Amino acid sequence: MEPVPLCYFQGKFVPVHEAKVGVMTHALHYGTAVFEGIRGNWNPDAGAIYIFRPKEHYQRFLDGCKVLRIRLPFSADDLVRLTVELVERMGFREDLYIRPLAFKSAQKVANLKLHELEDDFALMAVPFGKYLEAGLLKCITASWRRMDETMIPPRVKIAGLYVNSILAKTDAVLGGYDEAILLNQDGHVAEGSGENLFIVKDGRLITPPLYNNILGGITRDTVIELAREELGLEVMERPIGRAELYLADEVFLTGTAAHLTPVGEIDHRPIGVNPPGPVTRSLQDLYFKVIRGQIPRYMRWCVPAVPAGQTAKR
Ligand SMILES: Cc1ncc(COP(=O)(O)O)c(C=O)c1O
Repeated sequence: MEPVPLCYFQGKFVPVHEAKVGVMTHALHYGTAVFEGIRGNWNPDAGAIYIFRPKEHYQRFLDGCKVLRIRLPFSADDLVRLTVELVERMGFREDLYIRPLAFKSAQKVANLKLHELEDDFALMAVPFGKYLEAGLLKCITASWRRMDETMIPPRVKIAGLYVNSILAKTDAVLGGYDEAILLNQDGHVAEGSGENLFIVKDGRLITPPLYNNILGGITRDTVIELAREELGLEVMERPIGRAELYLADEVFLTGTAAHLTPVGEIDHRPIGVNPPGPVTRSLQDLYFKVIRGQIPRYMRWCVPAVPAGQTAKR
């Protein structure tokens, strides 16, 4: 049987195109939804898809639900189990993007009171390769500023917040760039439209702190741990000025969709000499092995799912 993308919706697994909501749905009008992006990475030697750090993704997801007063009948562990079941039932033997979505499902258009609105949940997955082109990214500082915690909290993935990222990304791509870098309200570097940002300067890894209105990325956390534990690098979380980007030895972006992608140019200035530099290359190499379950020490981050019809090999 051909694998098909499935969705867990209203208590059942159905083909994705059969999971539908009405035009009056509150989340469609106001962005009152919370989502996650999780990768499943196919490992042909193991005959398994390794779902990368799903528990951490679901903890952030449930935090977002708390902010939007969405009540779900699931714990993070329940959601991990449901995700394994979805991936196994679908039967794909390739990399997947897994998208849980919790939303205000009330069919009420003129109501701005979260506590009066019903909730619903959908979990879907689709085959997914690259998000950003491999190679060196050409970036531009966005004229849009990163949303502030006092407006919509950027530490959780609230759907409406992503209009901010989408405005910046669209302008960047239509202007001939690959990605936008957003500054926060006080002018410090925040992050890419869908990625965290790191610079390397004089052998140190530096990344903006959580209080600079960034999303606390799970890839960011992974890279910080790999840099410290495997490469013995000093990692600093501190505000970064715009011109520091231009003067960095290396710059790279991290994210579930974007993986770890080197930046070659920002605002028409080349970054470093011969990018990607040695720190970016070492981290990239480690990261790609870790997410496919190829380094035993980091298997604790990989939850295996064996696609239907496949026998696990190890
Ligand atoms: C705005 C933003 N920053 C950073 C990230 C990276 O987060 P993670 O590594 O958890 O995917 C994402 C992707 O989810 C994002 O949307």
